[in-house]
Amino acid sequence: MIGFVGAGRVGAQAALEVASQGIDDIAMVDIIPGLAEGEALDISHKLSETGVDVSVTGSSDYSNLKGSRVVVITAGLARKPGMTRMDLLGKNAVIIGSVAKEVAKHAPDSVIITVTNPMDLMNYVVLKATGFPKNRVVGMGGVLDLSRFKHVLSLKLGVSRSSITALVIGEHGENMLPLARYTSIGGVPLTSLLNEKEVEETIQSTRQVAIDVISKKGATVDAPGNAIARMVRAIAWDRKEILPASTLLDGQYGVTGIGIGVPLMLGSSGVERVYELDLNDGERAQFMKGVDTIKEGVAALPPA
Ligand code: NAI
Repeated sequence: MIGFVGAGRVGAQAALEVASQGIDDIAMVDIIPGLAEGEALDISHKLSETGVDVSVTGSSDYSNLKGSRVVVITAGLARKPGMTRMDLLGKNAVIIGSVAKEVAKHAPDSVIITVTNPMDLMNYVVLKATGFPKNRVVGMGGVLDLSRFKHVLSLKLGVSRSSITALVIGEHGENMLPLARYTSIGGVPLTSLLNEKEVEETIQSTRQVAIDVISKKGATVDAPGNAIARMVRAIAWDRKEILPASTLLDGQYGVTGIGIGVPLMLGSSGVERVYELDLNDGERAQFMKGVDTIKEGVAALPPA
């Protein structure tokens, strides 16, 4: 069973993706009476036509999560046009602290995927509020950021998106770090195809695209739903996929006690391995800017 706390735009879309891929049964919870049940019914009706036999239930009662081995948290407030992820900090920290305690009570053995923004900080709140080991709390950001980087690159280079292998690490926010040196087109290094100025342009566009989507359609929904489903599948099917995601570091990259996006292995125990990359001075400076922003956010968190 895969649990979803938050059946709003992103939660419902992610549940639909996970259900459509037949990954596992689904249990949704939302604080708005009837919303999770309604979404569950709507998804079930679609599955009846497409012939996928997973069960989808919804409730406003957290006991619905019982038996979940993965729980996706999208509950909370979303960014409005003009808002940064940090603006959301105080309000969502309170919501996420209480949500995390309910998840720990009803799905004590689960791996939690935190989505709510500001994600690296909310993932930290989930970790502290649940008391789960750090491998069982992971944040979604990098997979979505790299899908945006791939889109920008495919337009710039005029190549199939499927030929692009990209990597985006760091803070899921203003300091995200698209790594051109670790990106290739069918194995051909990106840095041999674009000069420094062109690389910088693609990085700036990648940082900008999320806010473009929010200002045009009100929220980012489809790409986050897909990124969440990819992480759920990696854990539920023990695929040992290497993806960028947010995890609490313990000395890697010279950082301890702060969670940020890095390449890691996702399998049935959650984060099974963290990979350390050799960053050059510029990349390292950007990564550490993200670390410092997250540190400031941790210091500004309301008391638990
Ligand atoms: P939304 O407003 O459509 O849905 C949020 C849902 O959470 C609502 O249905 C609300 O009733 C529910 N909720 C609030 N408090 C709750 C509680 N205590 N228990 C259970 N449910 C509760 O928002 P949307 O667009 O789905 O975004 C959700 C979050 O995900 C936002 O914080 C957004 O910024 C974030 N996000 C993060 C991304 C990432 O890459 N990490 C990508 C896209 C969105």
